[in-house]
Amino acid sequence: MKYLITGGAGFIGSHLSDALVARGDGIVILDNLSTGNHHNIEALIGNEAVTFYNGSILDRDLVSQLVSEVDHVIHLAAAVGVFNIVDKPLESLRINLNGTENVLEVAAQCNKPVLIASSSEIYGKNGGRPLNEESDRIVGSPLKSRWSYSEAKAIDESLGYFYFSEKGLPVRLVRFFNTVGPRQVGSYGMVVPRFVEAALKGEPLDVYGTGEQSRCFCHVADAVAGLLSVIDSPETIGQVYNIGNDYEISVEGLAKAVIAQLGSPSTIKKKSYEDAYGAGFEDMQRRIPDISKIKATTGWAPTRSLEVIINDIAGYLNNAGL
Ligand SMILES: NC(=O)c1ccc[n+]([C@@H]2O[C@H](COP(=O)([O-])OP(=O)(O)OC[C@H]3O[C@@H](n4cnc5c(N)ncnc54)[C@H](O)[C@@H]3O)[C@@H](O)[C@H]2O)c1
Repeated sequence: MKYLITGGAGFIGSHLSDALVARGDGIVILDNLSTGNHHNIEALIGNEAVTFYNGSILDRDLVSQLVSEVDHVIHLAAAVGVFNIVDKPLESLRINLNGTENVLEVAAQCNKPVLIASSSEIYGKNGGRPLNEESDRIVGSPLKSRWSYSEAKAIDESLGYFYFSEKGLPVRLVRFFNTVGPRQVGSYGMVVPRFVEAALKGEPLDVYGTGEQSRCFCHVADAVAGLLSVIDSPETIGQVYNIGNDYEISVEGLAKAVIAQLGSPSTIKKKSYEDAYGAGFEDMQRRIPDISKIKATTGWAPTRSLEVIINDIAGYLNNAGL
């Protein structure tokens, strides 16, 4: 099979690219390297199964050309990261809405199967209990840039779903919950690499808010295996699946675990959301995935612990000389 991976030089995309090439598939990567990085795919360049295009999903002609060359599209490209979304809401919306529409329109013209990467952000502030695929979305005002990513990803899902139900396009949807691991950068506000980097440097770990808010973290290798299990199963067409790890930890607990595991002299520093992201920022207290649907359909479940995650990120940052 030959896959087009939009965002294939990014964090999840580059691990997916490695996995597809390792199993003998061909890949075409389309990435504008905005948050992705050429280093992530350096080892793949030169492999005859791999082609890389530095370009945008907003470039309709390029998307059209590339979709026509492949058997299957995996759409991961997006403007991501809380800092990006809050700082550049218009550009982020354009990429996350128009970019996905381009990919779907072109895929429909060529009748190519598409997998769209969505996000647990679509659930917004709904965080009381584990979230299953039918859980409600509870989001704040559309005028708050914080929620524009959630809005765009939700509309992407609807677009994908209706291309399936109205036009018969084979579309699959996955909702990634916090995915972490090597190659993820802390500069876009991703908490685990930010903590690991600070701990390695002996600098304070900035915990936003009370630190009592909890999160679950899934190793990127597990997330990629989850995505592949969805793509490889015919029953998953026209469906959406949560992909995440359901082990829950508070953000302060995470900071403590990172410091202890790395034997770091770092301290924990509390910072208000306002200082971190500006006035009016809203966050959710809990976000736990219910992954029973994907388990029942494809048999996938995450296998890597938080210790493995911290260890792998620290190893990566040490190797990168950070
Ligand atoms: N990492 C997570 O925890 C997480 C959680 C939920 C959803 N997701 C989704 O998974 C996908 C991959 O995210 P990631 O964590 O690997 O982030 P990432 O930033 O590493 O990957 C996104 C990639 O898209 C590329 N990109 C951005 N705009 C583009 C454009 N206009 N044209 C072409 N390429 C463009 C970036 O350069 C980058 O390589 C995204 O759709 C994201 O919304 C990720």
